[in-house]
Amino acid sequence: MIVVSAATGNIGRHLVDLLLAEGAPVRALTRDPERAGLPAAAETVRADLTDPASLETALAGAEALWLNLAAGGSQAALQVVDAAVKAGVRRIVLNSSLSVTDTTADDEGFISRMHASVERAIQASGVEWTFVRGGMYATNALQWAPGIKAESVVRGPFPEAVAAPVHEADLAAVSARALLDRSGALLGTAPYVTGPEAVTVAEQAAAIGRAIGREVRFETITVEAAADAMASDSFPKEVALQLLGYFGASVGTDPQRTDEVQRITGRPARTFEEWAADHADDFR
Ligand SMILES: NC(=O)c1ccc[n+]([C@@H]2O[C@H](COP(=O)([O-])OP(=O)(O)OC[C@H]3O[C@@H](n4cnc5c(N)ncnc54)[C@H](OP(=O)(O)O)[C@@H]3O)[C@@H](O)[C@H]2O)c1
Repeated sequence: MIVVSAATGNIGRHLVDLLLAEGAPVRALTRDPERAGLPAAAETVRADLTDPASLETALAGAEALWLNLAAGGSQAALQVVDAAVKAGVRRIVLNSSLSVTDTTADDEGFISRMHASVERAIQASGVEWTFVRGGMYATNALQWAPGIKAESVVRGPFPEAVAAPVHEADLAAVSARALLDRSGALLGTAPYVTGPEAVTVAEQAAAIGRAIGREVRFETITVEAAADAMASDSFPKEVALQLLGYFGASVGTDPQRTDEVQRITGRPARTFEEWAADHADDFR
């Protein structure tokens, strides 16, 4: 049995489908099975990963676990790792982050620190592991959907901020290979998984425009205004400012790109143009 946390999430849904297609037994975790819309072939189990009482049922009899910090954050994930070891889970594939560098810098940034802390706990636990260190997600562009739908506009402080956005289906495909890997080749490895090409924020907005068949313009706003717009109860403004700092620092750089999607899954990483076409309905 393979347990998939955040099974209704952007990556999780693809991963559940991929594992089922390979004939693997899947237990899909969600806080709300009635609304989850998960495939009938998966065993859908109610679990809130911040609630330790959920964990025993969620992990009973499982051999492998796909752990995503989106499901309750890093503190919850640390408890899940403990519970997984107690339940006899033999393999954990962590949805981690390219911000983790295995240097002391990992303790400085908010994002690297939370992912590195869970990576270290998994390494220390003695289970088999793979850390899928994803670069900037293409799905971050979904935050622009309200502005694009209402006014055909994307607002941000850095139109020339550049990254190699990675498609959630590629992250899921890499995770599926790691969960199903019988050769052991991916065990104890931490592949950096990125999209195939450097794309600026303004170019992403234009690609979404092409996907929906109307022009999307970029409007530059201050860092402060952007941080206020990003911040919420679960997303502190301080973290928003840190993220915007990374975006600003990326201007004029050549972002890291790897061929791990091709190497691990046997097919090329999807482009942002493909991502925008796949998500056109989210922006119409
Ligand atoms: N954004 C980036 O550029 C980036 C880059 C590298 C790594 N990452 C990592 O990727 C993660 C995002 O992955 P994603 O896009 O697949 O996530 P997502 O689509 O935001 O998925 C979130 C899922 O988590 C579940 N969830 C939320 N709170 C929960 C709780 N307390 N207990 C159990 N489940 C809970 C929700 O499912 P239900 O509502 O059904 O319970 C939801 O479907 C980030 O958190 C970060 O760790 C992100």
